[in-house]
Amino acid sequence: MSDFIIRDWSISDIDAIANMHRLNFKDAWSKDMLLSSFNAQGFVGGLIEVDGQIACTVAFSSVLGEAELLSVVTRSNFRGLGLAVKLLTHYLLVLKTAGNVCAFLEVRASNTPAINLYKKLGFVLISERKNYYGTETALIFKKEL
Ligand SMILES: CC(C)(COP(=O)(O)OP(=O)(O)OC[C@H]1O[C@@H](n2cnc3c(N)ncnc32)[C@H](O)[C@@H]1OP(=O)(O)O)[C@@H](O)C(=O)NCCC(=O)NCCS
Repeated sequence: MSDFIIRDWSISDIDAIANMHRLNFKDAWSKDMLLSSFNAQGFVGGLIEVDGQIACTVAFSSVLGEAELLSVVTRSNFRGLGLAVKLLTHYLLVLKTAGNVCAFLEVRASNTPAINLYKKLGFVLISERKNYYGTETALIFKKEL
Protein backbone atom coordinates (compact mmCIF):
# COMPACT_ATOMS: atom_id res chain seq x y z
CA MET A 1 0.00 0.00 0.00
CA SER A 2 1.15 3.55 -0.70
CA ASP A 3 1.90 6.02 2.06
CA PHE A 4 -0.92 6.85 4.42
CA ILE A 5 -1.60 9.45 7.05
CA ILE A 6 -3.73 9.31 10.19
CA ARG A 7 -5.46 12.56 11.12
CA ASP A 8 -8.53 14.00 12.83
CA TRP A 9 -11.68 14.70 10.82
CA SER A 10 -12.02 18.21 9.49
CA ILE A 11 -15.26 19.83 8.43
CA SER A 12 -14.33 19.44 4.77
CA ASP A 13 -14.30 15.63 5.19
CA ILE A 14 -17.97 15.42 6.18
CA ASP A 15 -19.37 14.90 2.63
CA ALA A 16 -16.96 12.05 1.87
CA ILE A 17 -17.59 10.44 5.27
CA ALA A 18 -21.37 10.74 4.80
CA ASN A 19 -20.97 8.92 1.46
CA MET A 20 -18.96 6.12 3.09
CA HIS A 21 -21.65 5.75 5.75
CA ARG A 22 -24.44 5.73 3.15
CA LEU A 23 -22.74 2.91 1.25
CA ASN A 24 -22.25 0.79 4.38
CA PHE A 25 -25.14 1.31 6.80
CA LYS A 26 -28.89 0.78 6.33
CA ASP A 27 -29.52 3.38 9.03
CA ALA A 28 -26.67 5.70 8.00
CA TRP A 29 -26.30 9.11 9.62
CA SER A 30 -27.33 11.94 7.34
CA LYS A 31 -24.82 14.70 6.61
CA ASP A 32 -26.63 16.92 9.15
CA MET A 33 -26.39 14.25 11.85
CA LEU A 34 -22.68 13.84 11.12
CA LEU A 35 -22.19 17.60 11.33
CA SER A 36 -23.97 17.89 14.67
CA SER A 37 -21.95 14.96 16.09
CA PHE A 38 -18.77 16.56 14.78
CA ASN A 39 -19.62 19.77 16.61
CA ALA A 40 -20.70 18.04 19.85
CA GLN A 41 -18.61 18.19 23.00
CA GLY A 42 -16.51 15.04 23.48
CA PHE A 43 -16.61 14.02 19.81
CA VAL A 44 -13.44 12.44 18.44
CA GLY A 45 -13.28 11.59 14.72
CA GLY A 46 -10.27 10.19 12.92
CA LEU A 47 -9.39 8.85 9.50
CA ILE A 48 -6.69 7.24 7.39
CA GLU A 49 -6.00 8.90 4.09
CA VAL A 50 -4.29 6.97 1.30
CA ASP A 51 -3.20 8.97 -1.74
CA GLY A 52 -5.56 11.78 -0.74
CA GLN A 53 -8.58 9.46 -0.44
CA ILE A 54 -10.30 8.59 2.84
CA ALA A 55 -9.76 4.84 3.22
CA CYS A 56 -10.95 4.29 6.79
CA THR A 57 -12.80 6.41 9.32
CA VAL A 58 -13.72 6.12 13.00
CA ALA A 59 -15.93 8.19 15.30
CA PHE A 60 -16.11 8.18 19.09
CA SER A 61 -17.87 10.17 21.74
CA SER A 62 -16.27 10.63 25.12
CA VAL A 63 -18.30 11.45 28.22
CA LEU A 64 -17.07 11.50 31.83
CA GLY A 65 -14.05 9.27 31.15
CA GLU A 66 -15.91 6.67 29.10
CA ALA A 67 -15.56 6.48 25.33
CA GLU A 68 -18.12 5.02 22.94
CA LEU A 69 -17.26 3.85 19.44
CA LEU A 70 -19.96 5.31 17.20
CA SER A 71 -18.76 3.96 13.86
CA VAL A 72 -15.86 2.46 11.97
CA VAL A 73 -15.83 2.04 8.21
CA THR A 74 -13.15 0.95 5.76
CA ARG A 75 -13.78 1.68 2.05
CA SER A 76 -14.42 -1.67 0.35
CA ASN A 77 -11.27 -1.63 -1.83
CA PHE A 78 -9.08 -1.04 1.26
CA ARG A 79 -10.48 -3.85 3.44
CA GLY A 80 -8.37 -6.63 4.91
CA LEU A 81 -5.21 -4.49 4.97
CA GLY A 82 -5.22 -3.82 8.70
CA LEU A 83 -6.43 -0.20 8.39
CA ALA A 84 -9.27 -0.48 10.93
CA VAL A 85 -6.93 -2.06 13.49
CA LYS A 86 -4.36 0.67 12.87
CA LEU A 87 -6.84 3.54 13.14
CA LEU A 88 -8.73 2.19 16.16
CA THR A 89 -5.48 1.40 18.00
CA HIS A 90 -4.30 4.96 17.39
CA TYR A 91 -7.52 6.59 18.61
CA LEU A 92 -7.98 4.27 21.61
CA LEU A 93 -4.57 5.51 22.75
CA VAL A 94 -5.57 9.12 22.08
CA LEU A 95 -8.71 8.57 24.19
CA LYS A 96 -6.75 6.90 26.99
CA THR A 97 -4.24 9.75 27.02
CA ALA A 98 -7.16 12.19 27.28
CA GLY A 99 -8.29 10.42 30.48
CA ASN A 100 -10.83 7.84 29.30
CA VAL A 101 -10.70 4.63 31.34
CA CYS A 102 -12.78 2.36 29.08
CA ALA A 103 -14.46 2.15 25.69
CA PHE A 104 -17.85 0.64 24.79
CA LEU A 105 -19.43 -0.28 21.49
CA GLU A 106 -22.54 -1.89 20.14
CA VAL A 107 -22.66 -4.14 17.08
CA ARG A 108 -25.21 -6.23 15.19
CA ALA A 109 -24.85 -9.91 16.10
CA SER A 110 -24.59 -10.74 12.36
CA ASN A 111 -21.62 -8.42 11.70
CA THR A 112 -18.85 -11.04 11.88
CA PRO A 113 -16.06 -8.88 10.37
CA ALA A 114 -16.67 -6.12 12.94
CA ILE A 115 -17.01 -8.57 15.86
CA ASN A 116 -13.70 -10.23 14.91
CA LEU A 117 -12.09 -6.80 14.62
CA TYR A 118 -13.27 -5.75 18.10
CA LYS A 119 -12.15 -9.04 19.69
CA LYS A 120 -8.76 -8.68 18.03
CA LEU A 121 -8.45 -5.24 19.69
CA GLY A 122 -9.22 -6.72 23.11
CA PHE A 123 -12.90 -5.81 23.42
CA VAL A 124 -14.91 -8.25 25.57
CA LEU A 125 -18.62 -9.06 25.21
CA ILE A 126 -20.48 -7.75 28.27
CA SER A 127 -24.16 -7.92 27.31
CA GLU A 128 -26.77 -8.53 24.63
CA ARG A 129 -29.88 -6.57 23.69
CA LYS A 130 -32.41 -8.85 22.00
CA ASN A 131 -34.42 -7.39 19.10
CA TYR A 132 -32.50 -4.14 19.37
CA TYR A 133 -32.24 -3.72 15.60
CA GLY A 134 -35.73 -4.92 14.62
CA THR A 135 -35.44 -8.69 15.03
CA GLU A 136 -31.68 -8.57 15.37
CA THR A 137 -29.68 -8.74 18.58
CA ALA A 138 -27.17 -6.03 19.51
CA LEU A 139 -23.98 -7.11 21.26
CA ILE A 140 -22.30 -4.72 23.70
CA PHE A 141 -18.52 -4.89 24.02
CA LYS A 142 -16.18 -3.15 26.45
CA LYS A 143 -12.44 -2.59 26.63
CA GLU A 144 -10.48 -1.22 29.57
CA LEU A 145 -8.05 1.41 28.30
C1 LIG B 1 -15.48 -4.07 9.92
C2 LIG B 1 -14.51 -3.27 9.03
C3 LIG B 1 -14.46 -1.84 9.54
C4 LIG B 1 -13.12 -3.91 9.09
O1 LIG B 1 -12.20 -3.06 8.41
P1 LIG B 1 -10.79 -3.56 7.81
O2 LIG B 1 -9.94 -2.36 7.60
O3 LIG B 1 -11.03 -4.44 6.64
O4 LIG B 1 -10.25 -4.43 9.03
P2 LIG B 1 -8.73 -4.95 9.25
O5 LIG B 1 -8.10 -5.21 7.93
O6 LIG B 1 -8.07 -4.01 10.18
O7 LIG B 1 -9.04 -6.36 9.95
C5 LIG B 1 -8.83 -6.57 11.30
C6 LIG B 1 -9.53 -7.84 11.76
O8 LIG B 1 -10.94 -7.74 11.56
C7 LIG B 1 -11.47 -9.04 11.25
N1 LIG B 1 -12.03 -9.01 9.91
C8 LIG B 1 -11.91 -8.02 8.98
N2 LIG B 1 -12.60 -8.36 7.86
C9 LIG B 1 -13.15 -9.56 8.10
C10 LIG B 1 -13.99 -10.42 7.32
N3 LIG B 1 -14.40 -10.09 6.09
N4 LIG B 1 -14.42 -11.60 7.88
C11 LIG B 1 -14.04 -11.94 9.13
N5 LIG B 1 -13.24 -11.16 9.93
C12 LIG B 1 -12.80 -9.99 9.40
C13 LIG B 1 -10.30 -9.99 11.33
O9 LIG B 1 -10.21 -10.46 12.66
C14 LIG B 1 -9.13 -9.08 11.01
O10 LIG B 1 -7.91 -9.57 11.52
P3 LIG B 1 -7.01 -10.60 10.64
O11 LIG B 1 -6.76 -9.91 9.33
O12 LIG B 1 -5.80 -10.81 11.45
O13 LIG B 1 -7.86 -11.82 10.47
C15 LIG B 1 -14.99 -3.29 7.53
O14 LIG B 1 -15.31 -4.63 7.16
C16 LIG B 1 -16.18 -2.39 7.24
O15 LIG B 1 -16.01 -1.21 6.93
N6 LIG B 1 -17.41 -2.94 7.30
C17 LIG B 1 -18.63 -2.17 7.00
C18 LIG B 1 -18.95 -1.16 8.09
C19 LIG B 1 -19.20 -1.84 9.43
O16 LIG B 1 -19.91 -2.84 9.51
N7 LIG B 1 -18.62 -1.25 10.51
C20 LIG B 1 -18.77 -1.78 11.85
C21 LIG B 1 -20.00 -1.35 12.52
S1 LIG B 1 -19.98 0.39 12.89
